[in-house]
Amino acid sequence: MKKYFFIATFCFAIIFLFSSNSAFAAASGPKLFKKYYCIDCHTIGHEGGTVGPDLSNIGKTKSLAWIKAQIFHPGSHFIRGAKAKINGKVYLVRMPGVKTIPDSAVNKLAEYIKTFPSVRPNLSYKRPPEGMRLFEKDNCIACHRIEGIGEKVGPDLSHIGKTKSLSWIESQIVDPKVHFTYGVPATINGHTYLVIMPGFKHISASQLNTIARYLKSLK
Ligand code: HEC
Ligand code: HEC
Repeated sequence: MKKYFFIATFCFAIIFLFSSNSAFAAASGPKLFKKYYCIDCHTIGHEGGTVGPDLSNIGKTKSLAWIKAQIFHPGSHFIRGAKAKINGKVYLVRMPGVKTIPDSAVNKLAEYIKTFPSVRPNLSYKRPPEGMRLFEKDNCIACHRIEGIGEKVGPDLSHIGKTKSLSWIESQIVDPKVHFTYGVPATINGHTYLVIMPGFKHISASQLNTIARYLKSLK
């Protein structure tokens, strides 16, 4: 019985630590943007809702003071609200003013919004190369890493394009035994094994070529 009490107390302590941490720590702009539901209606960067205008370029056209005023009193800028299409119908939607939000949070939030898009151009959504997508989908990532992402069973492929040709990479994917008859030593959970890569014999020609070209591009 005592043991359970101890465990329960321990859990509460952890929960308290986490919750108090978030209550006292100064929340960042992106967190506030979620906390005050801005994200439900607005897209910023590449994430968010579409009820209100996309804010990804707002820093270009609006001043910091304007943005702060918008958060407190949207009605002072948009007397009747703005047209928004929701489920195919057009409504006049007004942004709810957030009057209970502390000044410090408004400042943080407005400063965060004002940085779009200028100082974070790389946050705007860029489609990853198709080969990278296939590299994940075909589970190559379960054994290989590229730029720090993926596992360490097989070699790191971040610069594979520097040393290997396109056709070498293609044959490695289809039949690794051609290059590595016995596999290579790999340390898994502290033990060293000889690991040979499974051949992807049934991969389609176009898929093979897309992945190989992607790997070849990693210099
Ligand atoms: C219920 C949906 C909704 C929520 C939640 C919401 N907004 Fe809005 N927002 C709108 C709409 C609709 C407009 C269009 C103008 C209007 O009606 O005020 C707008 C306009 C804006 C604008 C001006 C955009 C422009 O291009 O002129 C800014 C900046 C803005 N909102 C920031 C915020 C912030 C910050 C929050 C969170 C504190 C927030 N909004 C929460 C719906 C919302
Ligand atoms: C189960 C683990 C595993 C999976 C899954 C895997 N590999 Fe490998 N890979 C290895 C190992 C181990 C090697 C080392 C050589 C060998 O044994 O074939 C290797 C070697 C390679 C090499 C040569 C690296 C070098 O530096 O010589 C390439 C390229 C490669 N893999 C690409 C892929 C691609 C693309 C996929 C997905 C289609 C994939 N691998 C899936 C384990 C794996």
